[in-house]
Amino acid sequence: MRTVRAVSFSDVVFSGPTVTVSVRDARPSQSDRLWIGSIYREYLDDLSALSTGIFPVLGEVGHREPDQIARWFGDRNAFPLIILKTAERVGFAMVARSAHPLGPPVIEYRMAEFFISRGSRRLGVGRTAVNLILNRFAGRWEITEYLRNPGAVSFWRRVVAGYTRGSYQERVINGEVRQIFDSRIERSR
Ligand SMILES: CC(C)(COP(=O)(O)OP(=O)(O)OC[C@H]1O[C@@H](n2cnc3c(N)ncnc32)[C@H](O)[C@@H]1OP(=O)(O)O)[C@@H](O)C(=O)NCCC(=O)NCCS
Repeated sequence: MRTVRAVSFSDVVFSGPTVTVSVRDARPSQSDRLWIGSIYREYLDDLSALSTGIFPVLGEVGHREPDQIARWFGDRNAFPLIILKTAERVGFAMVARSAHPLGPPVIEYRMAEFFISRGSRRLGVGRTAVNLILNRFAGRWEITEYLRNPGAVSFWRRVVAGYTRGSYQERVINGEVRQIFDSRIERSR
């Protein structure tokens, strides 16, 4: 049993030891960028073990690592983020903002990448980081994962259902699961 306490760029408190989760913009820090490069292989290994990717929609996986990371950091519509457990870097996310949103319903943000390192999983770190990111990037979201990646599907269903209190749409098309919702609705409650 755990309780969650929300602060601005927030934190989570477990019933045992206290674990603080925070998210920060990786762009200003060369060492954050290097850290993403150092952990990126673990991310790709996890995805290749599944012969799949979590986020097929953007086709992010498959490029050479330095090229991929350079692309994020050079794109003003990409937001590379570091996820910390207390002061330790344990994950990263990449939020993609739609450059040219087309016709309603407009999707403003997509989660292009999301990763928690193996030693920090199943502690609620991923869920808390997602909640912080959805608060920070308030708008209409689409999150996509492969149906054949059941861990990712379970994670995103649980986290999005919890965040939106069930107020989201889900579609399964061509082996991909898509959750669509507006994170502003949660903030206005
Ligand atoms: C998917 C990922 C981001 C989850 O991060 P995490 O910090 O371990 O997730 P959390 O501890 O915040 O879990 C949040 C909820 O999702 C569920 N969940 C997390 N990983 C899960 C998995 N592999 N299978 C089923 N449910 C899972 C948790 O049980 C929890 O639900 P609950 O609060 O109702 O108990 C992380 O495992 C990751 O980066 N994986 C690498 C990429 C990948 O696709 N791996 C394959 C499995 S997902």
